[in-house]
Amino acid sequence: MKLDRPPGIKTSYLSPDAPQFDQTNLASKSYKSGHIKIRPARDKDSGYIIQLSKRVFNIYGPYDKMVTAWLESDSTIIIIAQINRQAVGFAMLGDLTSRFDYFHSPELLALAVNPEKQHRGIGRMLLQEIEKKAVETGTNRIFLHTGVKNLRARRLYDQNGYSPWEIKRRFYAAGQDAVVMSKEIRIWNLL
Ligand SMILES: CC(C)(COP(=O)(O)OP(=O)(O)OC[C@H]1O[C@@H](n2cnc3c(N)ncnc32)[C@H](O)[C@@H]1OP(=O)(O)O)[C@@H](O)C(=O)NCCC(=O)NCCS
Repeated sequence: MKLDRPPGIKTSYLSPDAPQFDQTNLASKSYKSGHIKIRPARDKDSGYIIQLSKRVFNIYGPYDKMVTAWLESDSTIIIIAQINRQAVGFAMLGDLTSRFDYFHSPELLALAVNPEKQHRGIGRMLLQEIEKKAVETGTNRIFLHTGVKNLRARRLYDQNGYSPWEIKRRFYAAGQDAVVMSKEIRIWNLL
């Protein structure tokens, strides 16, 4: 089912005219077709983002509703991965207002890939691209929450330089524990 764009969604974080980033070379190692592009989210992507969130995050609680709220925030950066003009994943970085405070970094609110397109390097590409966006805004560090038992996500973050910070018991609405992970992105990108 295609969901409608949520009412009242703001467009300030969406960039309809922004250029696309051609990730063909990055993608070619893990996705043979080499047609993956990462681009800023547009207004019309909101339905896709909510729909995918419902598919992959609702085991943790009403994430489609939470993502809708995040979409309405002024301080959220969202990027979309697409293949042949079809969206296949997204990443969402929030709380950029605190980017100059060392101890309060922006949070990677969500990272998701269509289940049928997972395990091909798209999640890693989205993660690396959202980090570049964060660096551009002056952020030094990113943190995130992910399920303690979400081993694929934890492995992806671990492989990309995120360190576990703390465990939050029953963090999710559905009762799962979360692990907080963080990464010094500015230092990492200078290495
Ligand atoms: C977590 C998630 C975003 C990862 O996305 P992904 O596109 O599957 O991730 P990648 O393909 O970049 O990397 C994941 C794995 O695929 C492997 N991989 C990448 N390209 C591959 C290829 N061509 N062939 C085989 N494996 C490959 C990676 O090495 C990694 O392997 P691992 O699972 O053994 O560690 C995705 O699984 C997802 O959407 N999950 C549901 C939502 C979620 O849990 N999000 C994270 C919490 S916010």
